[in-house]
Amino acid sequence: MTSKTTSLIELPTDLDCTQLPQHIAVIMDGNGRWAKQRGFPRMMGHKRGADTLRDLLRCCKDWGISALTVYAFSTENWGRSMEEVDFLMTLFENLFQLELAEMVSEGVKLEVVGNLDNLTPSLCSAIDRARVATRHNQGVRFTVAINYGGRQEIVRACQILAAQVQQGIVKSTDIDEQMLSKYLHTADLPDPDLLIRTSGEMRISNFLLWQLAYAEIYVTDTLWPDFDRLAFHQALLNYQHRHRRFGKA
Ligand code: FPP
Repeated sequence: MTSKTTSLIELPTDLDCTQLPQHIAVIMDGNGRWAKQRGFPRMMGHKRGADTLRDLLRCCKDWGISALTVYAFSTENWGRSMEEVDFLMTLFENLFQLELAEMVSEGVKLEVVGNLDNLTPSLCSAIDRARVATRHNQGVRFTVAINYGGRQEIVRACQILAAQVQQGIVKSTDIDEQMLSKYLHTADLPDPDLLIRTSGEMRISNFLLWQLAYAEIYVTDTLWPDFDRLAFHQALLNYQHRHRRFGKA
């Protein structure tokens, strides 16, 4: 992982290491606008976005954040041009292949969530190899959402539970939040404490609809390719000034 930022290797001293969000979810938005502002093709924005993501993952390790989940491709993103979809799929494959040795040595545990049925066989193989190679790692839990939709994920969980009720394995009255959570893609992850969205849009865009119920939301105008350690530092400072109430007074 080549680092774009040479400063802020250590956790900045104005952050309280006991009050860091343990799981951070990110909607990486603004790659296209970043490229357009510079007169580059959109793909250049995605390429720079991939560099930004590598550095954020490294930063989570450096600063002691244990889980990072990123929205890389939504179920709606298939509506983009074929050229852009192909480019993104190749970027994902490169991440899982070319960065695998580094992820292994850094202790990253990789997971990919979403409906992987429509992905190319070579991308699926790269995902499988990376999952297997990192499965015992104890460092940052890095989850990449590809062909992911929050509503679809909840519907899928309901279908599994409905089938279990039909087979008499589960009583409908026993279904509760905890049981439904077990059938989400993120079953073995704690819910995110913080959602970061770049590029100023105030939406959650079908990302982790269930899991973000009590997350703090931080939106920055910074476009994703420019989201460096300084910008991450600002997001964490802002988070640490929030009072999390979980619906209580
Ligand atoms: C949104 O920007 C970004 C995406 C749909 C793709 C996210 C992908 C990356 C950051 C590439 C790297 C990811 C991995 C996992 C290697 P946009 O294209 O919608 O930007 P715009 O709103 O400015 O057009």
